[in-house]
Parts: sequence; C-alpha cells; structure tokens
Amino acid sequence: MAREDASTLENLDTLRKKIFSDLESATDSAALESFRIKYLGKKGALRALLKGLKNIPAERRKEYGARANQLRAETEQAFSSRTRQKKARGDQQSSPFDPSLPGYPFPHGSIHPLTKIRNEIRDIFISMGFDVAYGPDVESDFYNFAALNFPPHHPARDMQDTFLVSPEVVLRTHTSPVQIRIMEEQQPPIRCIMPGRVYRHEEISSRSYCIFHQVEGLYVDRDVSFADLKGTLLWFARRFFDEKTHIKIRPSFFPFTEPSVEIDIECFLCKGAGCSVCKQSGWLEILGAGMVHPNVLASGGIDSEHYTGFAFGMGIERIALLKYTIDDIRLFFENDIRFLRQF
Ligand code: DAH
Repeated sequence: MAREDASTLENLDTLRKKIFSDLESATDSAALESFRIKYLGKKGALRALLKGLKNIPAERRKEYGARANQLRAETEQAFSSRTRQKKARGDQQSSPFDPSLPGYPFPHGSIHPLTKIRNEIRDIFISMGFDVAYGPDVESDFYNFAALNFPPHHPARDMQDTFLVSPEVVLRTHTSPVQIRIMEEQQPPIRCIMPGRVYRHEEISSRSYCIFHQVEGLYVDRDVSFADLKGTLLWFARRFFDEKTHIKIRPSFFPFTEPSVEIDIECFLCKGAGCSVCKQSGWLEILGAGMVHPNVLASGGIDSEHYTGFAFGMGIERIALLKYTIDDIRLFFENDIRFLRQF
C-alpha cells in the first residue's frame, strides 16, 4: 500500500480528498475494512502522518500537527458513521420479511364438482334419515352379479361391460353390490345410501367414460311400498333441482328390482318446453329404481315374507353434466385447472 506523502499542508489537503473519496466508494464490508487498515490502522496513513511530525520544520509543526489530528478525528467519525449506515442497510437486505413488498396470491384448491354434487345428494338423504355406507371397488362376481339376481350367462350381464380382474373378481360395474353387503350386516329397518366409484369397459366419448360415480340407495322395512319410493325420490328431486319440479316414472328392467322403473325429472332449463339439453323432450332421465327383488333380499339374508324395500341408483356425472350444463364427461377426469376453477 503506497503511503501518502503528506509532509506539507497541501499534501494534507490532497490526502483529505483522497480519504473521503475512498470512503465514499467503500460500499461493502471488505472495502470498509481495507479503508480502515489503509488510513486508521496501526500502520495506516494517518498514524504515519503523526509519526512524521518530527521531520516537519519546527515553525510549521504546531499547525501541521493540529491539522493532522483534526483529519484523523474526522476520518474516524466519518468511518464509523459509514459503517453504521452500511450495517443498517445490510440488516434490512438480509431480513427474511420485507413488509414493503407487494403481496402475492396463494393458489388454493377447490372442491371437485363431482364431490360437490355427491355431497349435496348425500346431505339431502341424510336429512331424510338415511345412513351412508361404502363398499370395495374390487368386487367378487357374487356381489356384483349373482347376489343381485343376475344368473350366470344371463344376457342382462351384457348391459354392463365388465373389467375382469380374474374370472371370479371384477371391478364393480355399479354400486348395487353394496346393498347386499349392508343387508348381510344389518337387519331392517335399513335406510342407507352408498356412494362410490364404478368401472365399465366402455368406449370413451363425450358421453361415457370408463370410470364414473354412482349413489345407490336402499330402504328396507315392513310395508315399504312403491308410494314410498315415489315420495322419497320426488322429495329428493325437488330439494336437489327445483322445488316445483315434476318427476315421470317409466317402466324399465333391472334384474335386482321388480317392478323396475326409470325416473325422469322435468327439464330444469326449459321447464318442460323442450330444449337441446333434454333433446326437445322436456324430460331428463336421472336414475333407475324399483322394489327390491325377493331373491335379492334373500341373498342379503332378509326374510322377504316380512320385509319389502325399494332401491335406486343414480350416476353422479350424469347429474353434474345436467346441473352445470357441461357437454363432455371427460372434463371431470382431466383435472384441467381452467375447468375446475369454475366451480
Ligand atoms: N345398478 C344400476 C345401474 O348401474 C342402477 C340401479 C337401477 C340401481 C335400479 C338400483 C336400482 O338400485 O334399483 O345401471
């Protein structure tokens, strides 16, 4: 480090300028430390000035000494104030929390539309005194078919394209097998809904998917009649869709119910006048239902001489498509955030 030659008063002024310009440009702690060593350290320039006093001619020594001391005091003061400033700024920068920064939004999830619909359906039935039960997705042929009155090789099995795990084990094609499991565990009165995922080996299109969801319902007790079925499902449709909605009951066929029906609701978009959603019919099919077949009660260990029951099954996707007027079932399974955000 070149020692400043400040043996004259002019040189003292030059040194002063140099000191303050060096201090000005010392912006980080390393530069400040070099500055301290260069000017204020034991072998620093300002010490050297005072040591050099003896070489100054006697008549100028007093003034020179006073000016040199003053320069040292000023330098020390300026240095410590600069160090304090730097520290304050540094503390601010390294703080993990800067309250002056603008906020940023936290992305948050939302309830999937299918879950929403399922919860609404569930809550309506709970309010009518139904329990909620679940069964396995991987089912035996017995629960999925045989116990539900589908004889082996019966053509009714073709109504549901089945994914086989092995000849005796399937991915359940509907939630109806849970009816049997409930009846095995419980004696009447039974009032239960059974939501769940089901699987069918169907061609994928905007109308059908290989996975979908159903809510099954079962009510078994003494003297349960078709009027109870009708009243319960009308009440449900009015709570879920529109309090003035009408339902239409059409005869149908399911092996596990006799008689079997399908239930339509009046189209809630056009109020029955006919529109593209109801294909101009004014009606929308929402579920299958019927009086539980005596063979099915027997499979569940329930005496069909004393008890009767009704059952129903509805597709959650179908109801969600209708309720939200969505035209492609695949949207429910793609989890595209732009779709999900709308619910
Ligand atoms: N399991 C039938 C299906 O997937 C739906 C169904 C119809 C369920 C009538 C029932 C019922 O409980 O009684 O197509």
